[in-house]
Amino acid sequence: MKNILITGGAGFIGSHVVRRFVTNYPNYHIFNLDALTYAGNLENIADIENAPNYTFVKGDITDETFIANLFFKHQFDAVIHLAAESHVDRSITDPLAFVRTNVIGTMILLNAVKTSWKSSDSSKRFYHISTDEVYGSLGETGLFTETTAYDPNSPYSASKASSDHFVRAYGETYGLPYVITNCSNNYGPNHFPEKLIPLFIHNIINNKPLPVYGDGKYTRDWLYVIDHARAIDLVFHKGKNHETYNIGGFNEWQNIDLVKLLCEKMDEKLNRTPGTSAQLITYVKDRPGHDLRYAIDASKINRELGWKPSVTFEEGLEQTIDWYLTNQKWLDHVTSGDYQGYYEKQYGE
Ligand code: NAD
Ligand code: TYD
Repeated sequence: MKNILITGGAGFIGSHVVRRFVTNYPNYHIFNLDALTYAGNLENIADIENAPNYTFVKGDITDETFIANLFFKHQFDAVIHLAAESHVDRSITDPLAFVRTNVIGTMILLNAVKTSWKSSDSSKRFYHISTDEVYGSLGETGLFTETTAYDPNSPYSASKASSDHFVRAYGETYGLPYVITNCSNNYGPNHFPEKLIPLFIHNIINNKPLPVYGDGKYTRDWLYVIDHARAIDLVFHKGKNHETYNIGGFNEWQNIDLVKLLCEKMDEKLNRTPGTSAQLITYVKDRPGHDLRYAIDASKINRELGWKPSVTFEEGLEQTIDWYLTNQKWLDHVTSGDYQGYYEKQYGE
């Protein structure tokens, strides 16, 4: 039995990773460490909470003593680190919170691992989950590869870039057995409705304006979250030590085109007259430092590990919409309380 620590497993991507590992690997004991911030929600993983190879631990990765004790107690064989502050707009209003969790929290985990593991033991693995946003913004052409220079523009991407650098530095300096992946924008079930796709699904259901930043001509490369979890599984088991892999959907969309597609699909699902949801589109003030375009070259993970997305964007979006429509209780829960205050501050309503 291996003890594996997954951080941030009550969040969006983490919950899909935890479910996959608990279900597929009965010989692993999965410890899910999560502080349950506004983004963490135990409802995301309620279906596996009683599995015999699963333990939830409520705790904060920035609490050094707590983390040191946890490592001492469970002698983890591997760490899959997803816990983070993850929303660009929040990083613009409160950058320090991103330094605390994403940089200092990662450092505290790295130090715990350094104390707990012998540097020569390559059976151990520290897997750091990162983002394509560390590479900054592309122009009209080109793709991010694993060797693209880091050039972060938002406090969020700067904090993730910093944590990536520290992971690499611990590999070089102390022999930490690590692997890093940089993934494009995810979408799918359990995505918190502050990010574009779930926010707009929520607003369409409730006939609220769809706030498109700037001219809407910003481009993102969208990947279904289940395909990200598949890639994480593969890299965790087959990825080479001290390597990084880019993960992407080969699926670029300008925001405004994606929003129009979403509106069409929502009209169908809600039996509304075609064109109804699109009337909610409202152009609003742009995000400061808004990156024009992200697009991933995922050929390395495809060539070396055989990974590629398993669903098309149309299929993934369809499944995502269906999930939100059948899980309105989940949406109601996460949009009560603090969410209202955030929404007013961000969108001035
Ligand atoms: P999320 O915001 O949905 O979830 C983050 C989770 O971390 C939450 O459960 C939260 O409670 C927990 N957390 C936050 N601070 C913590 C702390 N101090 N201690 C312990 N737990 C804490 O984020 P997500 O979208 O699931 O992203 C997960 C990871 O993947 C992040 O590292 C993010 O940078 C990365 N990533 C996200 C995307 C994306 O499109 N969402 C793309 C690429 C990479
Ligand atoms: P988001 O989901 O926040 O992801 P990221 O900023 O990490 O890429 O935003 C995706 C794109 O959608 C980005 O270009 C910003 C834009 N956007 C809007 O136009 N309106 C919104 O209300 C939000 C949240 C995002």
